[in-house]
Amino acid sequence: MPARLNLAVDCAPGKRVRTMPLTHTRDLFSKALKGKYALGAFNVNNMELLQAIIEACEEEKAPVMLQISKGARQYANPVYLKKLIEAAVSLSTIPIAVHLDHGDTFELCKECIDEGFTSVMIDASHEPFEKNVEICRKVVDYAHKHNCVVEGELGHLVGAQFDEGEEGGGFSSGGHYTHPEEAVKFVRESGVDSLAVAIGNSHGAYKFAGEQHLDLERLKAIKASLMDAGLGDYPLVLHGASSVPKDLAAQINKYGGNMGENTAGVPESDIEVARRTGCTKVNIDTDLRMAMTAGIRKVLWENPKEFDPRKYLAPARKMVKELVRHKVKNVLCCAGRAFD
Ligand code: G3H
Ligand code: 13P
Ligand code: ZN
Repeated sequence: MPARLNLAVDCAPGKRVRTMPLTHTRDLFSKALKGKYALGAFNVNNMELLQAIIEACEEEKAPVMLQISKGARQYANPVYLKKLIEAAVSLSTIPIAVHLDHGDTFELCKECIDEGFTSVMIDASHEPFEKNVEICRKVVDYAHKHNCVVEGELGHLVGAQFDEGEEGGGFSSGGHYTHPEEAVKFVRESGVDSLAVAIGNSHGAYKFAGEQHLDLERLKAIKASLMDAGLGDYPLVLHGASSVPKDLAAQINKYGGNMGENTAGVPESDIEVARRTGCTKVNIDTDLRMAMTAGIRKVLWENPKEFDPRKYLAPARKMVKELVRHKVKNVLCCAGRAFD
């Protein structure tokens, strides 16, 4: 029996828990578009990550999207995640939406919609265009009947090194990157509510072999095509938006890790341009993982006799919190926008 995110938490007057439910992704998007800021979509896998994200966003008064992957559901169990998120909502005042990250089947999307997620991603970007449309359409039809919105993806998140031939000049179609005209056709035919684009972005800690940059001209062209086609200020999504901080990689390496020297992320200046160009949702996971790992490694390296998990998880959680604070304040510019 699936556990529904029933976030209208019961509580007696005067108690510190609140009765406010999740905020709908649709509402967060429309405010972010109007306010020209981006929402951080941070991946949640366990309690410490969730606490770090929520505490930072609460202190910075930032609206936030919590995203849960299939792997997170397998690791933590959907019911634990639901209860953790209920706790987060009841102990904070900021708007919180819950999103399925990289849903790979209709069935998984349906499960999350039925559980009360406010948005789901159906990632059929590996399929040919028509098949991608068909799979997204099916999820959209179900989601829209159940008060949920859908993110689709067009193009492949392969990083910049694979598409050097497409830089500058016109935008070739049939490559890995999202083509502006195809984006319009895809949005129209699939009915998705937001679109994840491929503009040289990729997941993980080793995003670029050479120069670190996104194809921001293409991003501007995608946004303009959607606008010109009458789709309005259409929300775009940037996956793979971790900046892979060198100091975190250095800390991990210093305290017994081996991430090597060739870690590379998206420069924060590129994320800022992406935000100004209309990337309304910016996905960050790797940076959180690195902050958590760097914190744990340091404590255990310096205190090899330590075996109380709280002693290494608390400083690691603090590092994640400060990282999230930096993102929402200095990069995404959503700090202070929670109660607009
Ligand atoms: O894009 C993928 C996210 O970083 C989630 O990763 O599938 O290992 O949970 P995961
Ligand atoms: P990073 O690997 O850059 O953090 O990207 C996360 C992401 O896109 C989750 O969907
Ligand atoms: Zn992603």
